[in-house]
Amino acid sequence: MSDERTDKPLDGKRIILGVTGSIAAYKAAELASRLTQLGATVHAILTKNACEFISPLTFRSLTGNPPLTGLFDEPRETGMAHIDIPTGADLLLIAPATANIIGKMASGIADDWLSTAAMVVQCPVVIAPAMNCNMYTNPVVKRNVERLEELGYTFVEPESGRLACGTEGVGRLADPEVIIAEVVSKLRKRDLAGMRLLVTAGPTRERIDAVRFISNDSSGKMGYALARAAAARGAAVTLVSGPTHMSAPANVDIVPVESAKEMRDAVIDRFGDIDVVISAAAVADYTPSNPAAGKIKKTDAPRTLQLEPTEDILKTLGERKTKQILVGFAAETENLIENATQKIKEKNLDLIVANEVAQEERVFGSDSNTVTLITAAGAARELPRMTKLEVADNILDFVRDNHWRAGI
Ligand code: CTP
Repeated sequence: MSDERTDKPLDGKRIILGVTGSIAAYKAAELASRLTQLGATVHAILTKNACEFISPLTFRSLTGNPPLTGLFDEPRETGMAHIDIPTGADLLLIAPATANIIGKMASGIADDWLSTAAMVVQCPVVIAPAMNCNMYTNPVVKRNVERLEELGYTFVEPESGRLACGTEGVGRLADPEVIIAEVVSKLRKRDLAGMRLLVTAGPTRERIDAVRFISNDSSGKMGYALARAAAARGAAVTLVSGPTHMSAPANVDIVPVESAKEMRDAVIDRFGDIDVVISAAAVADYTPSNPAAGKIKKTDAPRTLQLEPTEDILKTLGERKTKQILVGFAAETENLIENATQKIKEKNLDLIVANEVAQEERVFGSDSNTVTLITAAGAARELPRMTKLEVADNILDFVRDNHWRAGI
């Protein structure tokens, strides 16, 4: 297994983090912290309104650099800070971005620190909007977003859900991990370029009748993190996904499926053109033998649901593999290493990511996880608890090393 860690993919990078006046401004503190942890030098620029929501001191503490807040209060150590800092930046991230800053940027207005920096920078610009849903879907805002996209700015789409104003809709700042993945993708070396990778993710749904199904707790987060991280590192990624609430990662070919059978067909069809399969889906082991086409009516009699085993997709791939690398997951409640090692053999895998699902910390739906990586040769490495995106990068490091070794 490689000793080279990818936990500092932003080493040596200078990032400007622009924060505007949205209720989501507090999430920018997490972004500042993560970017700094990933090795970047972060200079925060807060608009006047952002300072109403969050203190500049927070950013000074998290980044170690004095944040810039007003056009005329430049930090003393820099001569022309509003020009110097943006000029040397590797990336400008504006998160959260209000309709106001998007409108200013689309119209060429530079009347404060951030809008001025946005005009000076010569680096990639990533914008993560957050605002009320009526504002986000307002044709004027939409036109501004489109205009900036045409000019090469990258947007990280906001999520749907409950907004601070009490309404439901699209406008909630994207998950900070998604924003970080976009930043990393823009900046880091593309060490998986040329690799064709297929990831399965999420649960499957096995139909009982027209309105009922059997499923499980899988959120899809691990599989989506893998797809996102692999695409960011240059791989051509196909994501075969059961039903989830996750938004599609950028630059990933997504194949939505519902049942274990549909997932099987989607994976097997593509297997010949794939170098690596990572099977993160929680595939149902059983499916109803005789699903009803309509809705089953209630009676007073007890009812038995007959189930039959589904095909083990990964096992089939293990039987058919030529030089593909196969990575499986093992969700275990007991005898983690023993059961996971057994699965490597049964399914002819190269690596298994073993998960203690009975562990104190939640796994399903959580953003972080504690896993042990076990290779076919029997080497086991327990990783400390880390985000699913970091777990993904560790798995991809293994895949990268073995992929090139296999000379594919
Ligand atoms: N898997 C699969 N097809 C299935 C079942 C599982 O491809 N029908 C894959 C999963 O995506 C995972 C690995 O096999 O990568 C192990 O899944 P897991 O649920 O941990 O184990 P099972 O093989 O289903 O065995 P058990 O449920 O008895 O632990």
